[in-house]
Amino acid sequence: MVGDVPYPGPMTSVEARPDQDLAAPASDAYVNDRAHVFHSWSAQAALDPTVIAGALGAKFWDEHGTTWIDFTSQLVNMNLGHQHPRMIQAIKDQAERLCMVAPSFANAERSEAGRLIVEKANLGTNGAVRDDGHFQKVFFTNAGAEAVENAIRMAKAHTGRLKVLSAYRSYHGGTAAAIGLTGEGRRLDNEPSIPGLVKFWGPYAYRSAFHADSPAQESERALRHLRDTVTFEGGNKVAAIILESVVGTNGILVPPDGYLEGVRALCDEFGIVLVADEVMAGFGRTGQWFAWQNWNAQPDLIAFAKGVNSGYVPLGGVVMSAAIAATFDDRVYPGGLTYSGHPLACASAVASIRIFEEEGVLEQARHLGDDIIGPALNDMATRHRSIGEVRGLGVFWAVELVADRDTRAPMDAATMGKVVAACKSKGMWPMMAANRIHVVPPCNAPDDVVREGLAILDDALALAD
Ligand SMILES: Cc1ncc(COP(=O)(O)O)c(C=O)c1O
Repeated sequence: MVGDVPYPGPMTSVEARPDQDLAAPASDAYVNDRAHVFHSWSAQAALDPTVIAGALGAKFWDEHGTTWIDFTSQLVNMNLGHQHPRMIQAIKDQAERLCMVAPSFANAERSEAGRLIVEKANLGTNGAVRDDGHFQKVFFTNAGAEAVENAIRMAKAHTGRLKVLSAYRSYHGGTAAAIGLTGEGRRLDNEPSIPGLVKFWGPYAYRSAFHADSPAQESERALRHLRDTVTFEGGNKVAAIILESVVGTNGILVPPDGYLEGVRALCDEFGIVLVADEVMAGFGRTGQWFAWQNWNAQPDLIAFAKGVNSGYVPLGGVVMSAAIAATFDDRVYPGGLTYSGHPLACASAVASIRIFEEEGVLEQARHLGDDIIGPALNDMATRHRSIGEVRGLGVFWAVELVADRDTRAPMDAATMGKVVAACKSKGMWPMMAANRIHVVPPCNAPDDVVREGLAILDDALALAD
């Protein structure tokens, strides 16, 4: 591995905002936030949050009317962008019909959301009709971490085994098991977690842990390393391997061809449950319903959240194979949530899936990646010597900035901060993670807005060269 950054640090920078009018009195929203709101993953004293007053489509604005193109989709979850009128209508309609029922009842929205999500999961590579009925049921949660927690719980109960393997370059959520499964630095101050968690290195050709010099070699060596890890941990002790089909926060790492298929084969050989964490990569981000559908590697469990309904109401869940679901036909599932399958959340998921189908959202995500974002970033890489690598697919891209192209030393935090500030001052809100700018607009962002955001990034990168 070449000069790497183990801890990505906070997702948003805290420098003085370019729009900030220091003479203007602070609003109640700002004052009460600073006095009474405790924010995620942050030392609180230095925080200076922008107060968001409104948003529409791929843009949002603050209390003074300063507007930004949203190249973050907030936390890479608003795949349909802000304030989609059909989403708002679906939530309003549902609120008038039925706001809440306990999970033990059935209700129309939860049933329909389950049916639709299973239908999409049962599609094969590139949306081909697979129709093998592999996936059968959905357990609904409130968000991604709970989806991961429950996927692991299901895998352990199904196999009767204890150990779970996950990648060092990963984020799986902030709750006890999910943060223990997480490989990156946010795990460290949360240890010890639950017992039986083991880490491995996944493929990342640009900073190869295996001294590989091609994607094919990276795939083969990463698979050999995973096989060794499984063997030495005891193949019959491992309940699950969990991985992000495309690693998100830790670098938008697109697996080399053959890797996910190899992991699938390894899991089959040892009777291990394969859990795809699709919380960030799922529901259109990579141009498919689920990111693993870009390859031929069907998992046993899918953890989802974020893009299922763009977070209009909190929702996550686990899609379960028929075999794992059957484990709990006559045996009590040892888990549950008051808001499992909340009607407002499920109504918005149904609306979101219909919007995807009727408004060509997967097609737009693929078009943005293939025809606009990919070509533009690759062109920038020929002109900006600060760009070490560009990678991604759909609306899921990373621009990795380096201080030196030969050593691949990561760009320093101060320069990253300057690039971010320049983007914001010109009207685009970027997502920074360690030495990378992630380009992750909504899947349905209009071409011209994405082009405008990319031009702003292009200009800002001059500061890093
Ligand atoms: C891949 C992945 N898994 C799990 C989570 C946790 O999701 P949540 O924050 O909704 O609990 C995230 C959040 O960013 C994620 O990116």
